[in-house]
Amino acid sequence: MRHSFVVVAFALVHGAAAQQIQDVWQTTWDRSSLIASMPPASAIAFGTPGAAAAADIQVDDTQVYQTIQGFGATLTDSSAKLLDGLKTDNSDEYWKLMDYMFSSEISLLAAQAISPPMVPIPNAALSYVRVPLGASDFSASVSTIQPATQACRINFTIDAAPAYLFSTLTDIMSVNSAVRFHLVPWSLLAWMKTPANADGGSLMRMSTITHSSLLMHVDALTGFQGKNITVFAVGIQNEPENSDTTYPSTSMPVATEAAVGEALRPLMNSAGFTENRSIQI
Ligand SMILES: *[C@@H]1O[C@H](CO)[C@@H](O)[C@H](O)[C@H]1NC(C)=O
Ligand SMILES: *[C@@H]1O[C@H](CO)[C@@H](O)[C@H](O)[C@H]1NC(C)=O
Ligand SMILES: *[C@@H]1O[C@H](CO)[C@@H](O)[C@H](O)[C@H]1NC(C)=O
Repeated sequence: MRHSFVVVAFALVHGAAAQQIQDVWQTTWDRSSLIASMPPASAIAFGTPGAAAAADIQVDDTQVYQTIQGFGATLTDSSAKLLDGLKTDNSDEYWKLMDYMFSSEISLLAAQAISPPMVPIPNAALSYVRVPLGASDFSASVSTIQPATQACRINFTIDAAPAYLFSTLTDIMSVNSAVRFHLVPWSLLAWMKTPANADGGSLMRMSTITHSSLLMHVDALTGFQGKNITVFAVGIQNEPENSDTTYPSTSMPVATEAAVGEALRPLMNSAGFTENRSIQI
């Protein structure tokens, strides 16, 4: 039998001895079961482990590692376009889907589709959404954040992004006000890169170009703020080891990315974004 991926939910309030598994959700490799509820007949109590086998996963809930900011996915332009199309065609289904994906409330509507029907299931409650800054490999067309002026301080505007991206983000905030958005470019502007192409290439090291790429990140924060979209973090570069000449991407060695990150922080601070994170991926 192939392995299935089983997610268990349990209370983290008490010590291990008091913990019990109340819910089991199963997704199988062949998609015959997708996040299916498989409640145990009675709560499963944690016990003293037996001898470790090859595939044992040992959880030590007394050991704390890094803080998790949320769980989620990237909302590409094409995802926003699909959602926006659904909103136009069938607004009720759109809002049900938005609730199902992003709301942290228990959804009785969703429960009706699941067997047994009387068990209300929580929504997916995606709480962290990465948003491509400019086009990604899932965009209907290649748009970038645009230079708005060509003075000594080049200003950038996010308005070339499709309008349905902003309305979808606003709708997500309306169903989950705690959602965290993380902006991150797939491609820098072509002229910041060598070779100068939106698809592939790497950031030029000329300081004025690098500085422009920093201003681009800061202006993106300002742009989203102007649209009342709260942005938790801005990332330097998506998949920095992946320069692909067939779609928007940029390669950025670790040292460059670290230097950009270090230079970005004071610029973000002086523009008033002291609480917004800069993230090196
Ligand atoms: C460019 O951006 C800077 C910083 O936000 C601002 O002070 C300046 O007024 C902007 N210039 C134009 C022409 O919009
Ligand atoms: C942002 O919110 C402010 C205050 O509520 C409001 O005046 C403004 O019109 C909003 N802007 C947009 C683009 O929604
Ligand atoms: C930056 O963080 C602050 C505090 O969380 C938030 O109010 C603001 O909206 C964020 N900036 C943007 C551009 O969303």
